[in-house]
Amino acid sequence: MKLSAAAEAITTSPILVIAAEINRRIAEGQRVYNLTVGDFDASIFPIPEALTEGIIDAYRAQQTNYPGAFGLDILRKGVAHLLQRTCGVEHALDEIQIASGSRPLIYSFYQSVVDPGDRVVYPVPSWNNEYYCQLLGAHPVPVDTRPEDNFFPTADALRPVIEDASLLALCSPQNPTGTLMDRDQLLDICTLVVEENRRRPAGAKPLYVMFDQVYWLLTFGAHAFHHPLAVCPEIRPYAVFIDGVSKSFAGTGVRVGWGTGPAEIIGKMRAFIAHVGAWAPKPEQIACGGFLANDAAVDSFLDRFRSELQARLQGFYDGIMALRAEGFDVDAIAPQAAIYLSVRLGLKGRVTPSGRRLEDDESVRAWLLDEVGIGVLPFSWFGADRHADWYRISVGTCRREQVQEILAVLGNALRTLA
Ligand SMILES: Cc1ncc(COP(=O)(O)O)c(C=O)c1O
Repeated sequence: MKLSAAAEAITTSPILVIAAEINRRIAEGQRVYNLTVGDFDASIFPIPEALTEGIIDAYRAQQTNYPGAFGLDILRKGVAHLLQRTCGVEHALDEIQIASGSRPLIYSFYQSVVDPGDRVVYPVPSWNNEYYCQLLGAHPVPVDTRPEDNFFPTADALRPVIEDASLLALCSPQNPTGTLMDRDQLLDICTLVVEENRRRPAGAKPLYVMFDQVYWLLTFGAHAFHHPLAVCPEIRPYAVFIDGVSKSFAGTGVRVGWGTGPAEIIGKMRAFIAHVGAWAPKPEQIACGGFLANDAAVDSFLDRFRSELQARLQGFYDGIMALRAEGFDVDAIAPQAAIYLSVRLGLKGRVTPSGRRLEDDESVRAWLLDEVGIGVLPFSWFGADRHADWYRISVGTCRREQVQEILAVLGNALRTLA
């Protein structure tokens, strides 16, 4: 069947495919520890109680007609309040756009600033930028990163490639690494963007920057999140920030996201979102607005949520370090943020009891899933072929008591390798 060129080109992320495959195996009765998904098991990590109540109340109050193109004022005020309270950053209501999760905001921002053939710069590993480039017909410019920089690009690595680029796409705290940019890294990059824009001739399209911050409220210990506008106010005309309830409030199925940025860009994003109809449901908007304005409810949810996530991530980190002390060629980055841990499994050339030779990250991933019963995602699935022995593990569907169980299964499996 002949379809459009866009339809011929579009592909589904393998992450979604593997998640479906694991669910199928679990439904068939196989024991699989699913550490692959950027999602939550709602029986372990439910959304905040006040949010649930607010959503039900709004449906009961028949708040079920169109929510309006901007998003409801109650929610935009709630977003402005949260950002002001936690980051000291001010936004007018016309600088805030609501959508059905973060993805339509990312897509509409790309649509607003990227023309076909434009260069889009993003670090690898990172989440989904290659697909947004594909959707826009943009020229992807992935930039390699190093574990010693927490898998973030340095300003020096970006400098040679941002010239003539339309967009720099960044995400901190980062999926898949669970790391976040420190203040100096962030300031260096913001300064670079500001300087690049000063260098461009008047009337030229600027270098825009996307800060995807959907994990920003999930940071641990001394690892503090810094809002780019607080660190470098001069970045404001060029920067759009992406956020929502999916990750920080475990609400991946609630479908409420918000973007903040210059009113002119936000207005264009609104037009794209309106034509696609990617609005957030009205009852959810009302409930999220009420919830974000309720400081006590937000803080008490986050306190517990963060400590539960950190306990699991720290458990995995300690376990990997114990395996390292035992002599295995494994490593990990101590938990910093989000729901992910960066884990290195140096298993190349090892042979499994069934005679499989572990040639590369794909054979390690397949062995872990098929024979050990642990699902993990290689960084190469996030565009980082050079870091092919690093993997993402996610704790969003992991019970606290399962951490030691999974580590025991992993340790036993490693000990069987020749
Ligand atoms: C970095 C990042 N941004 C955005 C999203 C999408 O969020 P939403 O569910 O709000 O569309 C994800 C989901 O995995 C993500 O990891």
